[in-house]
Amino acid sequence: DSKTYFSTELLEWYDRSKRDLPWRRQRDPYLIWVSEIMLQQTRVDTVIPYFQRFIGRFPTLKDLAEAPEEDVLKCWEGLGYYSRARNLQAAARQVMERHGGVVPANKADVAALKGVGPYTTGAILSIAFNQPEPAVDGNVMRVLSRYFLIRDDIMKTGTRTLMEELAAGLIPRGRASDFNQALMELGALVCTPKSPQCLVCPVMAHCAARIEGVEETLPVKSKA
Ligand code: ADE
Repeated sequence: DSKTYFSTELLEWYDRSKRDLPWRRQRDPYLIWVSEIMLQQTRVDTVIPYFQRFIGRFPTLKDLAEAPEEDVLKCWEGLGYYSRARNLQAAARQVMERHGGVVPANKADVAALKGVGPYTTGAILSIAFNQPEPAVDGNVMRVLSRYFLIRDDIMKTGTRTLMEELAAGLIPRGRASDFNQALMELGALVCTPKSPQCLVCPVMAHCAARIEGVEETLPVKSKA
């Protein structure tokens, strides 16, 4: 069916065409976490040099927890949204105190970390631990709203919940890490907000929005 088609084709496409990004070269949950926080409000191209410098300066969670806050902010300078850096360090200190410096591998403990919301929780559990948890951000909602022709307002909590349930059901057994990153990759490279590259999309044949010719009108997003 169209769900199985989506998951299968998307994974095959990702295996063929994924970008070689520095946080994809290993599975260290701390490094995955740092990358996801940086990527929240910032483009991949901008994040790469900051990520490299940051992990050079704070190679382990313990290094980050023990550093003076001003060093952390200095290293974040230029990336913006500095509360991300403050929360990340506070959370690293939480992990030192509560979990002996080891990033926990369960949802409740990850979600309890400072600055870690539902998206980042899913991203850490799936990408670092390959757990079948959805990681639904704006890019993923755009992809799903188009392929499945979901016209609900993505600013509504219920729509996000629906998307999370849908995304969870699409994860192929044992492939959560790759599948979630494949969804993000499709949203970043092909299923873009304006002028999506449908002709090179691995799932175009069954994309409901494409079939209806309405891909550019989705997702529906109310203002503020
Ligand atoms: N955007 C958010 N998370 C990402 C990731 N892991 N890879 C690429 N883009 C992303």
